[in-house]
Amino acid sequence: MDVQEGWWKAFFSDLPLDVQVGGRTQTQSRAEAEMIAELLDLGPDQAVLDVPCGEGRIALELAEMGCTVTGVDITPQFLDAAQQAADTRGLNVLFVRRDMRDLEWEDLFDAALCWWGSFGYFDDEGNRAFLDAVSRALKPGGRFLLETHTLETLLPRYEPHAESEMGDRIIVQDRYFNHVTGRIQTEWTFKRDDRIVMRRQSSIRLYTYKQIVDRLWDAGFKSLQGYDTTTGEPFEFGSKRLSLVASK
Ligand SMILES: C[S@@+](CC[C@H](N)C(=O)[O-])C[C@H]1O[C@@H](n2cnc3c(N)ncnc32)[C@H](O)[C@@H]1O
Repeated sequence: MDVQEGWWKAFFSDLPLDVQVGGRTQTQSRAEAEMIAELLDLGPDQAVLDVPCGEGRIALELAEMGCTVTGVDITPQFLDAAQQAADTRGLNVLFVRRDMRDLEWEDLFDAALCWWGSFGYFDDEGNRAFLDAVSRALKPGGRFLLETHTLETLLPRYEPHAESEMGDRIIVQDRYFNHVTGRIQTEWTFKRDDRIVMRRQSSIRLYTYKQIVDRLWDAGFKSLQGYDTTTGEPFEFGSKRLSLVASK
């Protein structure tokens, strides 16, 4: 299976919202936002950049906690949903449609986050451009939280085939790790009543912990601390996901 560059354009367009949020409830998003606030040491009125923000599930919780939040995403459908939710909840968040490799701000934010498997979508140059853009957008001393799988977290649990239920849908994932490109390529099949309703393909570049740390150093970050997202404990071999906190 060879997934084309730019797969993310087709992948996220028309993706149902509940699939995008992975079936997470607002309570779960709130718990994630509280963990993020702790890792980033967020206080009220701090300027926070959430990129990519999807339908704003974390941005809205952080805004409710008193932060001044800007959310960036490329998919108009998710940004519309985010704005609607902000209006309904009476929250003020700036939602901006933009490519995450091309952020418009310089020395503006106290903190930034790239949360929940939103890193590695591009080639090495593109992934580096994203980290450089976040670094530029942060004030000196600003903190960055990158949540992602690494080669060490994923490969020991690698399952070539997985099925899960979401509401009345079955989601089938057929995965292939391409050791030549270092990418995990997934064919997603969405079924309802045993009929295929949608197919999508994704392709994520998997880095080792060390490679991610080196790229963050190159982008001007220092004092890096890794945690296991699922437990909050310091990251070690055997951890299930990585939450890496760095400061500029
Ligand atoms: C897995 S979702 C995570 C969203 C959010 N961080 C969360 O925790 O719910 C990934 C998001 O990346 C966005 N995205 C994909 N490619 C992008 C790009 N080139 N620039 C900006 N956003 C992009 C998609 O629209 C989608 O909302």
